Amino acid sequence: MKEGTVNRRVIVSERPRYAIPTANVFSVTESPVPKIGDRQVLIRTTWLGLDPYLYGRVKRVSSQSSPVQLGQVMVGPTVGRVVASHHPAFAEGDLVQGFWGWQDYFLSDGSRIMKIDPEIPRPSYVLGAFGISGFGAYIAINEYLRVQPGEVLTFGAALGGLGQMIGQIGKMRGAHTIGGAGGPEKCKFAVEELGFDVCLDRRAEDFHDRCLEEFGRAGVDCYAMAAGGRVFRAALPNFNLNARIAVCGLMAFYGMVTLPSGPDMTMAVFNEINLKRLSINGLVTMDWMGTPLHDQFKKDMKEWILGGKIRPVEHVVDGLENAPDGLQGLFEGRNFGKAVVRVAD
Ligand SMILES: NC(=O)c1ccc[n+]([C@@H]2O[C@H](COP(=O)([O-])OP(=O)(O)OC[C@H]3O[C@@H](n4cnc5c(N)ncnc54)[C@H](OP(=O)(O)O)[C@@H]3O)[C@@H](O)[C@H]2O)c1
Repeated sequence: MKEGTVNRRVIVSERPRYAIPTANVFSVTESPVPKIGDRQVLIRTTWLGLDPYLYGRVKRVSSQSSPVQLGQVMVGPTVGRVVASHHPAFAEGDLVQGFWGWQDYFLSDGSRIMKIDPEIPRPSYVLGAFGISGFGAYIAINEYLRVQPGEVLTFGAALGGLGQMIGQIGKMRGAHTIGGAGGPEKCKFAVEELGFDVCLDRRAEDFHDRCLEEFGRAGVDCYAMAAGGRVFRAALPNFNLNARIAVCGLMAFYGMVTLPSGPDMTMAVFNEINLKRLSINGLVTMDWMGTPLHDQFKKDMKEWILGGKIRPVEHVVDGLENAPDGLQGLFEGRNFGKAVVRVAD
């Protein structure tokens, strides 16, 4: 069957044996493109967004939502073009976003899909800058960290979807930004192209010492935790009085099958919370969807991008069939920017 008649679907075909799903737990199936009915919309997928939380939908037990059943299409945020419409609210050519997952075509009844603002320069930005990466960073900076000019703001995965936004919005707020990222190329880019003050290479042997050195200069006021692990351990003794921590994610923990060995740091952590009056909040972007803050965020982000104040950096994976490897790549640090999959033009 030629393009246009085949619907390729990436399904979850087995449960991962390790903590992080590897690409081989998925397989590609083919079926005919579904036939459109009354009040339905046929969508051609153009982009998929890859986010670390998707790994939780592949495991047997998931912390936030139920897992995808074996044999079912892998879920995930999507962008597509309406190729046929029998629905009054949508017309052929409309660009829409939704959560229909890893497949070439999707038949919608018009619910849970949304037209994309035509002023957004690239439709794939709704998966990153305008998605949970950008909004998560916006919530962290404004609501939990309440970043003030001159404060020290640190964060890991600095070139990832969330980190690149934390750093750029933090810079706009006048913070001194100290990011961590995997490899010298990422760190060079973060400083030279995105304007972060410092970016430390987590793969370098002296990473911990360099963190202690940078954090020791003026302490740490704000910490957006994306990876946890070593950035946290170096920041812990260096938090300033009334420092704020937004726990966004724990990349360093997701891949572990058991708790790490080593000294129990619980009392040391609580001691710092007590002495430094630390505020620690868990952040889940979904909690804020549809709120007035979400509307304000969409306006601000559009203005920042159109005005050249925020530069979204994307890591484009080509081809639906490569989505599984792209997802695995997040846990190996292979993405150089917000990871998105180009499925079709
Ligand atoms: N709470 C929320 O609503 C929310 C919203 C968005 C994101 N998040 C969380 O924020 C974190 C980053 O998400 P993202 O979308 O921005 O992903 P991403 O950064 O685009 O990709 C993940 C990055 O994490 C780093 N990483 C992978 N394994 C690591 C390890 N063992 N130790 C340290 N770093 C590791 C890698 O970067 P380097 O190799 O460059 O270090 C990798 O590129 C995730 O934990 C995610 O769940 C949460």
